[in-house]
Amino acid sequence: MTGNTPASRILILGAGAVGLALGSGLHAAGRRIHFVTGGRVPAHTITTHGIQRVGILGEVRVPPEAVEVSPRLADLGDFDFDSVLVCTKSTANPEVARDLATAWGKFPRPPRLVVCQNGWGNAETYAEALDPQYVASASILTGFRRNRAHEVEVTVHARAIQIGRLFSRKIEDLEPLCAALCAGGIPCETSTTIEADLGAKLLYNCLLNPLGALANVPYGRLGESPPTRALMEAVAREIFNVLDAGGLQTHWPSAESYLEVFYRDLLPPTAGHESSMLQDLRAGRPTEIDALSGAVTRLGRKLGVATPLNAALVELIHAAEQARQGTGTGSSTRGFSDP
Ligand SMILES: NC(=O)c1ccc[n+]([C@@H]2O[C@H](COP(=O)([O-])OP(=O)(O)OC[C@H]3O[C@@H](n4cnc5c(N)ncnc54)[C@H](OP(=O)(O)O)[C@@H]3O)[C@@H](O)[C@H]2O)c1
Repeated sequence: MTGNTPASRILILGAGAVGLALGSGLHAAGRRIHFVTGGRVPAHTITTHGIQRVGILGEVRVPPEAVEVSPRLADLGDFDFDSVLVCTKSTANPEVARDLATAWGKFPRPPRLVVCQNGWGNAETYAEALDPQYVASASILTGFRRNRAHEVEVTVHARAIQIGRLFSRKIEDLEPLCAALCAGGIPCETSTTIEADLGAKLLYNCLLNPLGALANVPYGRLGESPPTRALMEAVAREIFNVLDAGGLQTHWPSAESYLEVFYRDLLPPTAGHESSMLQDLRAGRPTEIDALSGAVTRLGRKLGVATPLNAALVELIHAAEQARQGTGTGSSTRGFSDP
């Protein structure tokens, strides 16, 4: 499979912040992009207005005629896709994996699937539904915000997106996709250490997202206050205990060495950011807590490692979700108004 001819299509599941941003980059690199949307934002919003990308990685405008959209996977024609990017929230994985398994037989050749999500255990859901050989994962430390249904802003960029496979070491076939994203202004590279890359993102998200959401503060405030620093440090130690017990590699030998890098290099550039979990709570949407602290807690239980703090964060976030249910807009855009 060559997969890098200019005319070959890339299917993007989820026209949210990440999906629109990656789609804009792929279009700028000459690739054909086809979205499956989640239903809340009507497909015609994108087919009418196209996509606008703004922010720190430059501006890209995708004209409406260059974007194909299907409201559901079941509505797809028998197009030849060389890659499928899963850009939904992890909460949609059971439904998306089931629909993909049904649609898979319609593809003239099996595409490669890249799971572009935060959390732990997402790729495994797709490997079970499809076949592990097709499944790759992306670790993303770039921040995207959807301001309007068709407009995404790149707000922060810490490192090139890393794409690799958990179930094999094969990465060569991922290179054309990474090259296309780079050519479209979104730095991206293949990785042979994707498990550690995803672990690094898991640590960052588990320290900041639930506490930021519960305290209703941007990330930087969590680092300024001794009580929240102590909580983040305890969360990090629990995660290292679990990863060590499972024989899982991170990029750091201990929680202490990670925390040094976290406070020095990772937290300052994103100090002003609010957690997506806080935005989900405000909008009355389910959060990704089960793929973050929930995944740590489940793995800890399996390995016999205590994770009381991560478990408490899961319960507190679920309680907050229930309290907020039905109170927000449900929209995944902030300040969104359909143009
Ligand atoms: N945003 C960031 O800066 C960032 C950075 C790194 C990693 N991530 C991770 O990337 C993933 C996506 O985040 P995001 O910020 O792009 O979320 P988002 O803006 O909420 O976008 C997710 C999109 O998926 C759609 N969707 C839901 N169910 C679907 C389905 N069955 N089929 C197709 N589309 C469906 C939603 O549509 P509806 O709104 O219509 O339901 C929504 O537009 C998350 O795991 C997140 O943690 C995000």
